[in-house]
Amino acid sequence: MKKHLYLIGFMGAGKSTVGKLLAETLNVAFVDLDSVIEREQQSTIGEIFQQKGASFFRQLETDAIHNISQEKPAVIALGGGAIQSENNLKVIKESGILIYLNVSLLTLINRLKNDRLNRPIIAQIPHEELNAFIENLLSERVGQYKKADLFVPNESKEPIKVVESIVKDLVKLNF
Ligand code: S3P
Repeated sequence: MKKHLYLIGFMGAGKSTVGKLLAETLNVAFVDLDSVIEREQQSTIGEIFQQKGASFFRQLETDAIHNISQEKPAVIALGGGAIQSENNLKVIKESGILIYLNVSLLTLINRLKNDRLNRPIIAQIPHEELNAFIENLLSERVGQYKKADLFVPNESKEPIKVVESIVKDLVKLNF
């Protein structure tokens, strides 16, 4: 593999699950960018947001993307907000293929409503406002997500099927 494969998509889109399996299938390393940041900072993403704020986290995220872009090719799961920065998007596109895991709003809401506490962006949102919040944030972000090189639905299929379809698409792209 000559370039990285980056996975983007909203929280709950399945980036880490699909990413791990894709890396295994291609026999390359898997990197979860949030885990890299947590390891370097010796704190959780939740703690970083709480103690240092969102823009501090975004700077760490940008630094981590710059660093990883120069490493040996790997499958990299990005955080859901990682390509809101045009500069991050540019670094990503220059160093790899960007794969968008596309999941419907309803599925995202169902996946996220029981998994809020580990996700600082939605942890504080009152239950009754969660659907509207996710809908708004997704619509703000979808324009950036659509700049990906590959679109992959990840609705309800088994992760291995999703991986197989990514691999087929990569072959078509001569990757
Ligand atoms: C974020 C998504 C998270 C993590 C951070 C911010 C976002 O990653 O980077 O909490 O802005 O959507 P996941 O998409 O892997 O949950």
